[in-house]
Amino acid sequence: MEEKLLNPLDVMQECAQLALLGKGYTKTNPVVGAIVANQSEILSRGWHMAYGGPHAEVNAIDSCPVSTEGLDLYVTLEPCSHSGKTPPCVEKIVKSGIRRVFIGVVDPNPLVAGKGVEYLKNHGVEVYVGYMEDLCASIIEDFVKFITEKKPYYTFKTAQTLDGKIASSTGDSKWISSEASRTYTHYMRAVSDAILVGVNTVIADDPELNVRMVKSDRDPFKIVLDPKGRMPLDRKLVENSADKLIYVTCAESRITEALRNKGADVITLGGDGSLDLNVLSDELVERSILNVMIEGGGTTAGKFFDAGLVDKVNIFIAMMIMGGSVSSVGGNGVENVAQAYKLKEVQSKHFEGDLMISGKITDYKTSVLDLTEKVRGCCACGCGKDK
Ligand SMILES: NC(=O)c1ccc[n+]([C@@H]2O[C@H](COP(=O)([O-])OP(=O)(O)OC[C@H]3O[C@@H](n4cnc5c(N)ncnc54)[C@H](OP(=O)(O)O)[C@@H]3O)[C@@H](O)[C@H]2O)c1
Ligand SMILES: [Zn+2]
Repeated sequence: MEEKLLNPLDVMQECAQLALLGKGYTKTNPVVGAIVANQSEILSRGWHMAYGGPHAEVNAIDSCPVSTEGLDLYVTLEPCSHSGKTPPCVEKIVKSGIRRVFIGVVDPNPLVAGKGVEYLKNHGVEVYVGYMEDLCASIIEDFVKFITEKKPYYTFKTAQTLDGKIASSTGDSKWISSEASRTYTHYMRAVSDAILVGVNTVIADDPELNVRMVKSDRDPFKIVLDPKGRMPLDRKLVENSADKLIYVTCAESRITEALRNKGADVITLGGDGSLDLNVLSDELVERSILNVMIEGGGTTAGKFFDAGLVDKVNIFIAMMIMGGSVSSVGGNGVENVAQAYKLKEVQSKHFEGDLMISGKITDYKTSVLDLTEKVRGCCACGCGKDK
């Protein structure tokens, strides 16, 4: 029987799925997936499981049940060529005798940025760059934002009615979205470094902001913006998870002292009642928080839009109309239609009776794709020569 050859694009797609298993665990590192295969069969899989731990390529090579001599390695991101918490992966690859390396995208980190490809080629490894590059770039957009701007990647999530309302005129908001939508939200929480809300949401809803509806061993940080120190101390966020609470306010108060005593992280930003979200972003990056899901309410969301910080939206729309004035996005808003934030890569999904629209406002993919194209040169055709 004729042997069926592997399709590198299929294998790379699976690598991207493996990479996502690391989402939420890799801190300031990107998620990466890798596979070791011969021409017809996948032999082992690996992903970057946790910050400081072995990289995806190393996990895939080390778990291969046979000698890796002469085999192929597929990896979503260019193997690293520098020493960080672990030695350079390119050295490991060369030592392992891997013959061909298929790479999704080139690493935008200036410490790598093509040097990994160069090292491998200089050591006689055949390198093929740019496989499923769109997918491989899209799974690391948060990392790209961190590398290029040193800011967290902000996703705005809301559950709203068809007329854009997130609560009734009396403040009732449980539940606008279906159980299926809320379950998906818990998955989104599980892959976020932190969930952020304004103080009114804490006062009105007493949320836990943890992961309950899906299985996960992660508990994201919970960020509360409370410039004037209005948050009551009997909230679940304080009573059940003070060690995961990041409380952001303008000045020291009896609340900041009490929260510190309970183990919360307190950030005082100064100011006269408004919190500078760019300064907050710097503080979060210092804490290795790169992925933040803004869960409302509308006032808080509006401030992030006004500051131009929102990268992506996930809007769950319930098929109902409530009227009133509690909108999902407040703030000053834009002055004219032309300035409105336009969504790219729009997707829609149904969750029971709800419709979820997701889309990106920023673009951190193109720069990686351009770099990948630049490094690809002749390697893509398999001649193994430099450009
Ligand atoms: N359906 C949903 O998905 C959903 C999600 C969350 C909340 N909700 C509902 O939304 C309602 C609450 O929304 P909301 O818009 O009234 O309040 P909110 O956004 O929860 O909190 C707003 C408050 O947070 C503080 N704040 C936030 N960002 C700030 C910044 N950059 N600088 C300074 N202060 C900042 C301000 O406190 P000060 O006023 O003290 O200055 C502001 O008034 C509740 O009824 C809740 O049930 C619904
Ligand atoms: Zn590496």
